[in-house]
Amino acid sequence: MPGRIKKAKVLTVSGGKGGTGKTFVSVNLAVEMARRLSGGGVFGSRISNSRVLLFDADFHLSNAHLMFGEKLSPCLDRFLDDPSSLPHYIVTTQYGVDLISFGGDEKRVNTIEEVTNSEILNALNKLEQQYDWIIVDTGAGLNKVILKQIMFADYTLLVVNPVATSIIDAYKVIKFMVLERKRRPIEICVNMASNYDEGYNCYVKLEKTLRQFGIGVRVFFSGVIYSDPTIFNKSLQSGIPAVAFNEKNHISQSIEILWDQILKKPAVKNIESFFEKIFFSNMSVDEH
Ligand SMILES: Nc1ncnc2c1ncn2[C@@H]1O[C@H](COP(=O)(O)OP(=O)(O)O)[C@@H](O)[C@H]1O
Ligand SMILES: [Mg+2]
Repeated sequence: MPGRIKKAKVLTVSGGKGGTGKTFVSVNLAVEMARRLSGGGVFGSRISNSRVLLFDADFHLSNAHLMFGEKLSPCLDRFLDDPSSLPHYIVTTQYGVDLISFGGDEKRVNTIEEVTNSEILNALNKLEQQYDWIIVDTGAGLNKVILKQIMFADYTLLVVNPVATSIIDAYKVIKFMVLERKRRPIEICVNMASNYDEGYNCYVKLEKTLRQFGIGVRVFFSGVIYSDPTIFNKSLQSGIPAVAFNEKNHISQSIEILWDQILKKPAVKNIESFFEKIFFSNMSVDEH
């Protein structure tokens, strides 16, 4: 299939295991980018025309909508049956972010990667023309689709936690990328740190491990987000993303820094369709 040209920049947020904070970080990054694109104004009704799409790619266990206080109706089966219905499943939040989420209460555990066809791809491709940014919040773990989402994004951010197992997970994700001969730079954000040094040291350990095992991928330290259950719970209960709280807080500051760091680097700007690559490109992770 010929490569299609996309307009949106794609940032994939992944991280290995579940529970590292991928969704929390993705939601807040999406809202912060929407604020920037709208001229840095206040959140809410003044942001018309969403230019940021949050793609909740945790296909059956999606939960990004909860962080916006939105309800999700099951749509994966219906979308696969009728791809032209995709626009109906886009939730417009009041933060300048549109959300597409293929979770919900499906009757069959449908895996989108098994049933893609050109109609489905066309519907997804339209999203790449419509938005300036697509933030992809991946599922937990590592499989072919997640690895492709990481490799074929314009920017990739791994959210890790300051525990040894999380660093090992991040190392493995990067190693799999190298096995696919894809050595793209990766941003690292350490979430749920109890202080800055703990977060930074975690990044240093990962960087050292990569060097020690000769994994020639550049990783960049893009910041630390402190653990703060009070802010997290307040956000979840109110349905307001932490960066959109009335008062500034350390989460919003960390998210601003995160974007500043990410945008400082030259993007690996892929002009061809992201969705085409993740669903249609041949990749043989399991052959190595
Ligand atoms: N910065 C943080 N401070 C406090 N708790 C957090 C933070 N980030 C994540 N959490 C906790 O971790 C859990 C998992 O977060 P989530 O974003 O859903 O992770 P993932 O998408 O990686 O599975 C949340 O339910 C919350 O309890
Ligand atoms: Mg998640």
